[in-house]
Amino acid sequence: MEQTAAPARSKWSGRWAFILAAAASAVGLGNMWRFPYLAAKYGGGAFLLVYIVLVVTFGFALMMAETALGRMTGQSAIGAFRTFGKKYLFIGVLASAVPFIITPYYAVIGGWVTKYMAAYIFEGANALAGDGYFTGFILNNPETYLWMAIFVLLVVGVVALGVKNGIERVNKVLMVLLIFMAIAISIFSLTLPGALDGVAYYLIPDFSKFSVEMVVAAMGQMFFSLSLAMGIMITYGSYFDKKEDLEHSVRRIELFDTGIAILAGFMIIPAAVAVQGGADVVANNAGPGLMFGILPQVFQGMGWAASAIGFAFFALVFFAALTSCISLFETLVSIVADGAHLSRAVSVVICAVFVLGMGTLVNMGYNNLLDVDLMYSLFGIGEYQDSQLLDFFDFVSNTILMPIVALLTCVFVGWIIKPKIILTEVRQSSEFKSAKLFTVMIKYVAPVFVVVILVAYIMAAAGIIVL
Ligand code: ALA
Repeated sequence: MEQTAAPARSKWSGRWAFILAAAASAVGLGNMWRFPYLAAKYGGGAFLLVYIVLVVTFGFALMMAETALGRMTGQSAIGAFRTFGKKYLFIGVLASAVPFIITPYYAVIGGWVTKYMAAYIFEGANALAGDGYFTGFILNNPETYLWMAIFVLLVVGVVALGVKNGIERVNKVLMVLLIFMAIAISIFSLTLPGALDGVAYYLIPDFSKFSVEMVVAAMGQMFFSLSLAMGIMITYGSYFDKKEDLEHSVRRIELFDTGIAILAGFMIIPAAVAVQGGADVVANNAGPGLMFGILPQVFQGMGWAASAIGFAFFALVFFAALTSCISLFETLVSIVADGAHLSRAVSVVICAVFVLGMGTLVNMGYNNLLDVDLMYSLFGIGEYQDSQLLDFFDFVSNTILMPIVALLTCVFVGWIIKPKIILTEVRQSSEFKSAKLFTVMIKYVAPVFVVVILVAYIMAAAGIIVL
């Protein structure tokens, strides 16, 4: 192992600060707008079971590998791989490309969420549920740039304050608020007449929906939701003290993220069944369509509570998106600071300019660049017609780069540096109870799973299967 001089590095103030930060990173848009959709689409409890099994085996192994690599090397993604030899630097570069692609479009969506949160106060539930409100807002609307800039400035402000004074403090407040609000909204949702049918739909497993396609969807969701294969966990691991128990922390992060995802299902599915008479609206709509189209209609159907619930829900999503974007931005800052040996302050400025610039470009996909249809031009598949720049960047990061980075990470840890090096790192502070599970997963099972995801994604992109 080649040694690189480790510069003085920020540190979490303790194990729980790390757990909270990683959980805050994990809980994001993925939990809110995709998990309930997947659960509704793929047989409720059947999907939950598959998802949980994947998280505690496959997700666990990758998260252990990433956080241990970060802690062992004290470096962000590029430096972490480079520590083992120049020829592995490319894995770090690919892993680093992911947050550079995701952060700008995450910020654009963060701007939409901020706008909706404010609009529930100033315009009310009826206005937001109106046909065409969302498209009217995002298409050809200079206001979207302003909301994106507000969101980015909040993220930059927190990261500029530092790991302990900024990220840790904000996470503590926002995550506590998020949990209370998620529980409160779920309880409200469950009290609506007819909601129990939705609970049955959500929890009772329908194993007829079990398919390879379902497993692939669950795996893709798991990567994004646990913030894996995007350099974040390497950076956050690099701030983690060697005295602290890594395995215990990773188990808590999984629990937190999956718990909030399941609560998101309780907030959304029973309410949709109660107000709209069925879960089809959730099963047929993921992402922006669900969040900004369907849910405002569901909230509108809640009568006197409509605006309050709508506001509370979007405030919760805002907290989730903000803390995830903070982790993405912190990852960019650490990559620039470590790679170019720049101070944190200068790196924050460079990354802020990058995110604002690229975010503006992504936003232009809904204005001046509306006719640029990169996805359709590249793949020529009808499904991609009229997609925007945001869809293109999302495709490059989630569908192409993340599975490749995950595969390379598994091969690197499982076969090149060997799992033992990770076991030794983890055992510096505690016993590694699931060491066998980790070794088998990272060497054999996880790489096979990731190849299945990659092949399935390529087939879907070629129009051979539908995911
Ligand atoms: N893990 C974050 C999310 O789910 C990126 O949105």
